Amino acid sequence: MKILITGSKGQMGMEFQVISRGDPVNRYLFTDIEELDITDPIAVTNLIRKEKPEVIINCAGYTAVDQAEQEPEKAILINGTAVEILAKAANETESILIQLSTDYVFDGTAFTPYREDTPPHPLSAYAKSKFEGEQAVINHANRGVIIRTSWLYSSYGQNFVKTILKYGRERDSLSVIFDQIGTPTYARDLCRTIQDILPALNDHWGVELFHYSNEGVASWYDFAKAIAELAGMNCQILPIESKDYLQLASRPFYSVLNKAKIKARFGISIPYWRDSLLDCILKLTAGE
Ligand SMILES: NC(=O)c1ccc[n+]([C@@H]2O[C@H](COP(=O)([O-])OP(=O)(O)OC[C@H]3O[C@@H](n4cnc5c(N)ncnc54)[C@H](OP(=O)(O)O)[C@@H]3O)[C@@H](O)[C@H]2O)c1
Repeated sequence: MKILITGSKGQMGMEFQVISRGDPVNRYLFTDIEELDITDPIAVTNLIRKEKPEVIINCAGYTAVDQAEQEPEKAILINGTAVEILAKAANETESILIQLSTDYVFDGTAFTPYREDTPPHPLSAYAKSKFEGEQAVINHANRGVIIRTSWLYSSYGQNFVKTILKYGRERDSLSVIFDQIGTPTYARDLCRTIQDILPALNDHWGVELFHYSNEGVASWYDFAKAIAELAGMNCQILPIESKDYLQLASRPFYSVLNKAKIKARFGISIPYWRDSLLDCILKLTAGE
């Protein structure tokens, strides 16, 4: 298959670059904003018409959750409007559009893991823009797959794991929120899963929604404790409540995703979050 990756310098994009090197089956075309600005309808249409990818994996996005409160229009443009542009261009070449979305489309009032058919209720400007992106796929793509994921990290880009490693080495203690519960997701695991399910999407028409994260649950505090422990850091991790930690954007207190659908449909197994975290930390310490 010929696969177009947008946002190829982000966490997911970089992980796709890594796994593409060991993929003898598929051909990849990597683009970030310099090669393809997904908000530019002419550029998007021209590139897709020229390259005719069978699959477009949209790894581009506006992911600064707090900053989005101050520039919601930019978040909507990149996470919403641009997805409509991609969907319409993908229809011309009958390409499958894979769109990544977020656990933050939920308001966090549930007590059990969120299923794909739970009605979303996004709390923040970022979450609203991502929900708009989902609606763009549902309303415009002839062949679409939406994958909601949560708490992404990787050895590339900016993320919670790298932040804790950095400050944990500089400080004696760090206070981390313990009352927001979710599941960390190693971007490489999600990329591998997408790569693995591609053959099963060959005859896919319509739009389907799936949830994917690593297995298990954690608070940000548990996540930070595990990072410190696995990296052998001496820094003390202290629990703090969300109300005592100023963040511009509201986040769901509970956003664990139910992954039964993706596991049943494609017969995949998903690694436990701590096992994947160890893998990422070993890569970071080895300097990958
Ligand atoms: N990170 C998370 O915790 C998380 C959780 C759930 C879902 N997701 C979703 O998963 C997807 C991938 O996330 P990620 O963490 O890999 O994102 P990321 O690391 O922020 O990467 C996004 C990439 O898209 C690029 N980009 C921004 N605007 C663009 C444009 N107009 N055209 C083309 N490229 C553009 C960014 O460039 P710049 O860096 O120069 O802006 C960056 O290279 C996103 O849709 C995100 O919403 C993320």
